[in-house]
Amino acid sequence: MIIFKTEEEIELMKVSALLVSSTLTEIAKVLKAGMTTMQLDKLAHEFIKDHGAVPSFYHYNGYPFHICTSVNEVVVHGMPNQRPLLEGDVITVDIGVVKDGYHGDHAYTFMLGEMAPETIKLVKITKESLFIGIQEAIVGNHIGDISSAIQRYAEKEGYGVVRDLVGHGIGRTMHEDPQVPNFGRRGTGIQMRENLTLAIEPMINLGTKDLYTSRDGWTIKTADGKPAAHFEHDVCIKPETALILSDFSPIEAAEKANQNLNSSYYE
Ligand code: MF3
Ligand code: CO
Repeated sequence: MIIFKTEEEIELMKVSALLVSSTLTEIAKVLKAGMTTMQLDKLAHEFIKDHGAVPSFYHYNGYPFHICTSVNEVVVHGMPNQRPLLEGDVITVDIGVVKDGYHGDHAYTFMLGEMAPETIKLVKITKESLFIGIQEAIVGNHIGDISSAIQRYAEKEGYGVVRDLVGHGIGRTMHEDPQVPNFGRRGTGIQMRENLTLAIEPMINLGTKDLYTSRDGWTIKTADGKPAAHFEHDVCIKPETALILSDFSPIEAAEKANQNLNSSYYE
């Protein structure tokens, strides 16, 4: 069932989405090689709690942490641990909150220091593919228009576009209809109407699109061990351009100001 939101609900969803952006910004301020992903989990948990919200990933289908930290060949659902991050690591931080009954769920990929040029390009193209998809997220277009735009943009670089995990509607629950695949054909899927709210989230691999689920039952890796990137925004469908509920700009400002992060792809 597809649930369209009222303007009041959209305001509440914006607050939740922006709380995720602020949490990612706090992480962007302190992230560096030598830290552990468990430290990030603790920081995010405290920050979310202090802002009157609940981390929605915690206990979701039994998930035992507050955020997902997916390092290098981990595509999504990486579990925080005590291993220090290393220079050259690429790390996606995916965070969900629920505040006043509405969910925010978004993700950002960071790079730690000196990186392989091919990884920098992967991250840049993956972020761009998200915005290419968002351009299609308007009244009258079909979900497949978002999907095909993302797929074409990533595949023209030879990247593997993940099939097994998809974006989704979002609102009073984290995952609502419709699914938003990152691959597909124009004109397919439901036609979008105003005030449909979606989490659009391309997951793009440097090599094969094929995945491997670790024995822990959560950690999803690339089958060939090559790195992956993942960016996610919460958006609201509008007639001319989508309203982006979350916000990368404070995250990007903190990323650029943090000397331990690689932000060379902005140059
Ligand atoms: N952001 C994710 C999603 O859209 C991850 C949630 S997985 C969880 O589905 F188990 F950690 F919650
Ligand atoms: Co999501």
